[in-house]
Amino acid sequence: MSKVPCTVRGGGRTFSLAIGESILHAAMAQGVPLDHACGGVCACSTCHVKIHGDRSCFNEPSEDELDQLDEARGTGLDSRLGCQAKLLRAPATGAVEITIPIWNVNAVREGGH
Ligand code: FES
Repeated sequence: MSKVPCTVRGGGRTFSLAIGESILHAAMAQGVPLDHACGGVCACSTCHVKIHGDRSCFNEPSEDELDQLDEARGTGLDSRLGCQAKLLRAPATGAVEITIPIWNVNAVREGGH
Protein backbone atom coordinates (compact mmCIF):
# COMPACT_ATOMS: atom_id res chain seq x y z
CA MET A 1 0.00 0.00 0.00
CA SER A 2 1.43 3.37 -0.89
CA LYS A 3 2.06 5.80 1.91
CA VAL A 4 2.23 9.57 1.82
CA PRO A 5 4.48 11.59 4.13
CA CYS A 6 2.54 13.86 6.47
CA THR A 7 4.48 16.67 8.13
CA VAL A 8 3.29 18.43 11.27
CA ARG A 9 4.00 22.15 10.94
CA GLY A 10 5.89 23.70 13.78
CA GLY A 11 7.33 20.63 15.42
CA GLY A 12 8.86 19.31 12.23
CA ARG A 13 7.63 15.79 12.87
CA THR A 14 6.65 13.61 9.96
CA PHE A 15 4.68 10.41 9.83
CA SER A 16 3.39 8.38 6.93
CA LEU A 17 -0.25 8.15 6.00
CA ALA A 18 -1.65 5.20 4.05
CA ILE A 19 -4.53 5.58 1.60
CA GLY A 20 -7.71 4.98 3.61
CA GLU A 21 -6.03 5.66 6.95
CA SER A 22 -7.11 8.42 9.34
CA ILE A 23 -4.67 11.08 10.46
CA LEU A 24 -5.24 10.09 14.10
CA HIS A 25 -4.61 6.41 13.45
CA ALA A 26 -1.39 7.07 11.57
CA ALA A 27 -0.13 9.63 14.09
CA MET A 28 -0.75 7.42 17.10
CA ALA A 29 0.75 4.37 15.42
CA GLN A 30 3.92 6.32 14.81
CA GLY A 31 4.27 8.06 18.15
CA VAL A 32 3.12 11.51 17.09
CA PRO A 33 0.98 12.94 19.91
CA LEU A 34 -2.54 13.92 18.93
CA ASP A 35 -5.18 14.15 21.62
CA HIS A 36 -8.22 11.92 21.17
CA ALA A 37 -10.38 12.14 24.27
CA CYS A 38 -13.26 10.11 22.84
CA GLY A 39 -11.05 7.41 21.40
CA GLY A 40 -11.63 8.40 17.79
CA VAL A 41 -15.40 8.04 17.48
CA CYS A 42 -16.28 11.61 16.49
CA ALA A 43 -17.61 12.50 19.93
CA CYS A 44 -15.18 15.25 20.96
CA SER A 45 -13.04 17.75 19.09
CA THR A 46 -9.70 17.21 20.77
CA CYS A 47 -8.22 15.62 17.63
CA HIS A 48 -8.75 18.86 15.67
CA VAL A 49 -6.10 19.42 13.01
CA LYS A 50 -5.75 21.81 10.10
CA ILE A 51 -4.92 20.32 6.73
CA HIS A 52 -2.91 22.54 4.41
CA GLY A 53 -2.97 22.27 0.66
CA ASP A 54 -5.32 20.05 -1.33
CA ARG A 55 -7.99 18.89 1.11
CA SER A 56 -9.86 17.10 -1.67
CA CYS A 57 -7.39 14.26 -1.17
CA PHE A 58 -9.32 13.50 2.02
CA ASN A 59 -12.85 12.19 2.52
CA GLU A 60 -15.64 14.71 2.96
CA PRO A 61 -16.48 15.55 6.58
CA SER A 62 -19.74 14.04 7.84
CA GLU A 63 -22.49 16.07 9.49
CA ASP A 64 -21.38 14.66 12.84
CA GLU A 65 -17.83 15.81 12.24
CA LEU A 66 -18.98 19.30 11.26
CA ASP A 67 -21.11 19.44 14.43
CA GLN A 68 -18.08 18.55 16.55
CA LEU A 69 -15.91 21.11 14.76
CA ASP A 70 -18.52 23.76 15.58
CA GLU A 71 -17.61 23.17 19.22
CA ALA A 72 -13.85 23.33 18.69
CA ARG A 73 -11.67 26.37 19.25
CA GLY A 74 -9.96 28.19 16.42
CA THR A 75 -11.43 26.28 13.53
CA GLY A 76 -11.32 27.34 9.90
CA LEU A 77 -12.10 25.97 6.47
CA ASP A 78 -9.01 23.80 6.73
CA SER A 79 -10.13 22.19 9.99
CA ARG A 80 -10.85 18.46 10.31
CA LEU A 81 -11.08 15.93 13.06
CA GLY A 82 -7.96 13.82 12.90
CA CYS A 83 -9.90 10.64 13.65
CA GLN A 84 -12.33 11.25 10.79
CA ALA A 85 -10.06 12.66 8.06
CA LYS A 86 -8.96 9.75 5.90
CA LEU A 87 -6.66 10.06 2.95
CA LEU A 88 -8.37 9.08 -0.31
CA ARG A 89 -5.46 9.57 -2.70
CA ALA A 90 -1.97 10.98 -2.77
CA PRO A 91 -1.91 14.75 -3.31
CA ALA A 92 -0.21 16.11 -6.41
CA THR A 93 2.55 17.51 -4.21
CA GLY A 94 3.24 14.00 -2.95
CA ALA A 95 2.96 15.05 0.68
CA VAL A 96 0.47 16.26 3.25
CA GLU A 97 1.06 19.05 5.73
CA ILE A 98 -1.01 19.61 8.87
CA THR A 99 -1.05 21.83 11.93
CA ILE A 100 -2.01 20.51 15.33
CA PRO A 101 -3.45 23.54 17.19
CA ILE A 102 -1.16 24.55 20.03
CA TRP A 103 -3.84 24.10 22.70
CA ASN A 104 -4.21 20.47 21.63
CA VAL A 105 -0.46 20.00 21.96
CA ASN A 106 -0.58 21.59 25.42
CA ALA A 107 -3.44 19.32 26.45
CA VAL A 108 -1.40 16.30 25.43
CA ARG A 109 1.62 17.53 27.35
CA GLU A 110 -0.46 18.24 30.44
CA GLY A 111 -1.82 14.73 30.10
CA GLY A 112 1.67 13.44 30.67
CA HIS A 113 2.39 12.04 27.20
S1 FES B 1 -10.86 11.72 18.94
FE1 FES B 1 -12.76 12.48 19.56
S2 FES B 1 -13.54 13.32 17.74
FE2 FES B 1 -11.62 12.54 17.12
